[in-house]
Amino acid sequence: MREIKIAPSILAGDLGHLAEAVTLADEGGADQIHLDVIDGHFAPNITFGAGTVKALRNVSDLPFDTHLMLSDPLKYAPKFIEAGSDILSFHAEVLDQSSFAELRSLLKKEGVKMGLAIKPKTPLPQWARESLDKFDVLLVMTVNPGFSGQELDPAVLPKLADLYSLVRRGGSEVDIEVDGGVEEGNVSEVVRMGGNILVAGAGVYAKGDAARAIKSLRERALSAMVVK
Ligand code: DX5
Ligand code: ZN
Repeated sequence: MREIKIAPSILAGDLGHLAEAVTLADEGGADQIHLDVIDGHFAPNITFGAGTVKALRNVSDLPFDTHLMLSDPLKYAPKFIEAGSDILSFHAEVLDQSSFAELRSLLKKEGVKMGLAIKPKTPLPQWARESLDKFDVLLVMTVNPGFSGQELDPAVLPKLADLYSLVRRGGSEVDIEVDGGVEEGNVSEVVRMGGNILVAGAGVYAKGDAARAIKSLRERALSAMVVK
């Protein structure tokens, strides 16, 4: 059975105290830390870079799940590997089969897991459909990239369900990560549609008690898994 993982996005934490946001997630029982790197070009916000990821590496031993929202991921991937990312996700909108293969061999050599991310309106490209065994995580965005605190777009749920059946049909082990607006009220539906790695920014940090929010997300997700 696929494992449920809760991945708090520190973009929704106190940006003046990112280390504390990581600690809150770690001590609150998170499975991994989601780090949103945005270049102001691929999406309309500028967040933080590899130096910040590297500095945060001293704060927690949890896996770092770095989501690169960059127009030129090939150029910057080595820096984020060196900074200590355990999973690096790249957007399909800025990759083709050959840049994907190049990144894949780089990550493989370095022992870093690979994620392929798609925006809400982007279908999974044909080359990726044929290579489901070549990446570890399929990151399905349920908001337009840029900012935390947006509402999950329910129009993405049928796509999520289709991707989940594609993954199952292919007998692939790929995890499906759902990113954007996931919170207590919709996490069961997200899991029923096929998500198993659940990113939550505002759904964790805007709730006042991060540990309680993580626990509640996990409980709801696990019960939705059971009835599937
Ligand atoms: C958006 C980011 C998301 C977002 C999650 O560009 O990729 O990870 O910060 O935050 P919430 O859960 O608040 O939508
Ligand atoms: Zn993200």
